[in-house]
Amino acid sequence: MKTVLVAGGAGFIGSNLCKRLLEQNYSVICIDNFITSKKSNIQNLLNNPQFTFIEADITKPVEGDLKFDFLFHLASPASPNHHSSISYLALPIQTMMANTTGTHLLLDLALKNNARFLFASTSEIYGDPLEHPQKETYRGNVSTTGPRSIYDESKRFGETLTAYYVRDKNLDGRIVRIFNTYGPNMLKEDGRMIISFINQSLSGESITVFGDGSQTRSLCFIDDLVDGLMKFMFNDNVKGEVINLGSPSEHTVLEYAQIVKKLTDSKSEIIFSEELPLDDPLKRKADISKAKQLLNWEPKVSLEEGLNKTIEYFKSI
Ligand SMILES: NC(=O)c1ccc[n+]([C@@H]2O[C@H](COP(=O)([O-])OP(=O)(O)OC[C@H]3O[C@@H](n4cnc5c(N)ncnc54)[C@H](O)[C@@H]3O)[C@@H](O)[C@H]2O)c1
Repeated sequence: MKTVLVAGGAGFIGSNLCKRLLEQNYSVICIDNFITSKKSNIQNLLNNPQFTFIEADITKPVEGDLKFDFLFHLASPASPNHHSSISYLALPIQTMMANTTGTHLLLDLALKNNARFLFASTSEIYGDPLEHPQKETYRGNVSTTGPRSIYDESKRFGETLTAYYVRDKNLDGRIVRIFNTYGPNMLKEDGRMIISFINQSLSGESITVFGDGSQTRSLCFIDDLVDGLMKFMFNDNVKGEVINLGSPSEHTVLEYAQIVKKLTDSKSEIIFSEELPLDDPLKRKADISKAKQLLNWEPKVSLEEGLNKTIEYFKSI
């Protein structure tokens, strides 16, 4: 049985990935410090004999002699919402260190184990893109000093570190640029658009749309993303590749608010309350032709199905 280490395994993506890995008979070591997640995400995995949980901070060397074959590095705050206590804006040093020092230490750990390494980067490395949709070859339009640079630039450096280990140390590494993903196990206080819309709709509060709502987003359901992550990691022929994973299906923010309002049968009013946050990208859409070609991957879950599952999750907690 192969062993997979998931750094950030208690988070939204990590906990869904750990669950799927266990279902597919991998042994899983999950490392997390719960800085942006709750133990409840992995509570039902803790009794599984193939699941080991280590509460630790990956910006410090992990204690003990861990043995594993694959390492997913997902440990980083990820929400950009400036009102959220778990956003990377609220956790600036922790975010920058998780993607730089943390990546460095995990790369060394993977090298020591002769393990395969996957770095979770982000579509944010494209910044406010001048090319649309964004292919992996696009180098981005990112501010090095703006508020979002905390996340964007630390992810870019994480990519640089990973590419260096592949090139000069012959590590079997790969980089995935994840576009907006949603689904069960996201935290209510996360503050990302779709979670806010769902929780505002369910509680009858006004649904808050930033700006005039004409900015677009493409959202991928978590089950599809987990499929893509596993196809990328367990493919023997994609060492050193950089790949986008996300949904190419684009809607305006206002359309998302309207769809969620309809699916929750909510009486909430949609309001346009604030200016757009600084550096908020106006357009973001994944070009996934490389993932289709290399991995035979594309999202399968419809927006309505994914939203209904996410709405059910938030109703249940
Ligand atoms: N969700 C998305 O739409 C999205 C988009 C692009 C990229 N990503 C990337 O995917 C990864 C997972 O994102 P997510 O949405 O699941 O976020 P999340 O906040 O739910 O999960 C991140 C997990 O990492 C843990 N963590 C953070 N710093 C840590 C540290 N120093 N030591 C140990 N654990 C630490 C957190 O406690 C949390 O459990 C992140 O790297 C994020 O940047 C996510």
